Amino acid sequence: MSLYACRVMVVILIVYYSWQGHTEKVAAALAERVGGRLEKIEPVSEVGMFRKGMMAAFGMRAAIRPVQADLTGVDFLVVATPVWSQKVPPYVNEYLSQVSGASGKPFSVLVEMGGSGAEKAVAIVRKSLEAKGMRFVSSATTLESEVDAGQFGPAIERLARTIAEAPAPAA
Ligand SMILES: Cc1cc2nc3c(=O)[nH]c(=O)nc-3n(C[C@H](O)[C@H](O)[C@H](O)COP(=O)(O)O)c2cc1C
Repeated sequence: MSLYACRVMVVILIVYYSWQGHTEKVAAALAERVGGRLEKIEPVSEVGMFRKGMMAAFGMRAAIRPVQADLTGVDFLVVATPVWSQKVPPYVNEYLSQVSGASGKPFSVLVEMGGSGAEKAVAIVRKSLEAKGMRFVSSATTLESEVDAGQFGPAIERLARTIAEAPAPAA
């Protein structure tokens, strides 16, 4: 049962990017746990591996297909992203720049990585959304190896609790 089953009308949007499927798995598990709606950030075109690393390292943006960025009608946003070059993919930077209707709304960040850079990645998402007046609630990190082994449940459970316990948004 969803953690939000007893709190009606709370719309949780979980927006994620995933190149190789790990972040997608974790985001889907969180959506199931909190009763959130999933939206995938889809690049217009995936650049090559070298450019992926470089564009992330330089904080660049790259074009994405239309995705829900207007948060009117959304009560809680979760951004789920892989760590790239200790930062976030250019497609996630583009999404963050598009977010609107966000002022005063709570958000959490979920980062998925090979082994290092989670704190910097969370800080990037935080800075961008807080600049739009959003309120940071929590973050969680999962490791690629944990996801491959199906052992990311506890991290998701903890994150789900912080979302469920966050003060309800103003009506
Ligand atoms: C271009 C690129 C850069 C990466 N840089 C990092 C990094 O700095 N730190 C890290 O822990 N993992 C790094 N990774 C590994 C990914 O974060 C990891 O494989 C993650 O599980 C990918 O998620 P996905 O399957 O949803 O695409 C990088 C992967 C790519 C493709």
